[in-house]
Amino acid sequence: MGSEKLSLDRNLALELVRVTESAAIAASRWMGRGDKNGADGAAVDAMRSALSTIAMDGIVVIGEGEKDEAPMLFNGERIGDGSEPKVDIAVDPIEGTTPTALGRENALSVIALSERGTMFNPGPCFYMNKIAAGPESRGKISLDLTPTENVREVAKAKAIPIREVTVVILDRPRNQEIIEEVRKAGARVHLITDGDVAAAISTAWPTSGADLLLGIGGTPEGVVSAAALKSMGGEIQGRLWPRDDAESKAIIAAGLEIDKTLTHNDLIQSENCFFAATGVTNGELLRGVRYTPTGAVTQSLVMRSKSGTVRLIESTHRLSKFSEYLSE
Ligand code: FBP
Repeated sequence: MGSEKLSLDRNLALELVRVTESAAIAASRWMGRGDKNGADGAAVDAMRSALSTIAMDGIVVIGEGEKDEAPMLFNGERIGDGSEPKVDIAVDPIEGTTPTALGRENALSVIALSERGTMFNPGPCFYMNKIAAGPESRGKISLDLTPTENVREVAKAKAIPIREVTVVILDRPRNQEIIEEVRKAGARVHLITDGDVAAAISTAWPTSGADLLLGIGGTPEGVVSAAALKSMGGEIQGRLWPRDDAESKAIIAAGLEIDKTLTHNDLIQSENCFFAATGVTNGELLRGVRYTPTGAVTQSLVMRSKSGTVRLIESTHRLSKFSEYLSE
């Protein structure tokens, strides 16, 4: 345990950024080409190659799905060179496959790590009702409050009028009631087509203009967002949202509680977690991959919860050196 603690004192996120940079560059080649699978496959290959070079003993808790359907980065796969530290891994080689395929905004390549046995496994639960906000609103927001009450709490916490509070919500029919209520409450609404990891982070990013994330989105994305928000001093809560009876039964059979409010400390039960994300397409947080005559430029966010350090890293890559990661 002593040596594990010591090795986790190394900021793994600084190494993980190479992984998300590789995946983002590979994915960016597919931007706007209308091929989600092509983009995802390229990002997965690149992420897998880069991950295998990292000194760790990792288990993929949140990956590309079950082994039968996912040849790489499947749930349960061992990653790294097998040396200490022992970690849980969540990967999202492209968070926003549709925006990547359509050349739209806010696609990221994302990875989160935490100490072994501390990452929530969403099992069969696809969606989660979420609420997220930045440090000022931490401890004030709650899934037990109505959207109106949460908007009021955020306004109070930030000492701004309700009409200046901006709530980000995934534009889906399942979120329509929340959208209507937030509008009635008098807050500003930013509807997003995809990418609620970037949206969750933006609530804790001082210049983003976003104050609160509400609505039902992906469960894996909720876990990944928790790693970032823990590092940024913000908050996220989630409650599993089964789509039908069969999913409810599968969730219960997997030993998960449907009505439980999961805090970021349930989603990542460790004070030492790591998060890295690189922009694939341009977004409010990060610029997407840009190509130059000699290579590519990437922007990434790198975070570690233990120190609370958030780094914004711009990297210049000579593509000839990256060629082994890129698929045509
Ligand atoms: P993908 O990259 O897997 O396409 O996920 C993008 C995303 O928009 C997530 O950010 C979000 O949590 C989820 O999809 C919402 O799911 P759905 O599109 O099914 O409503």
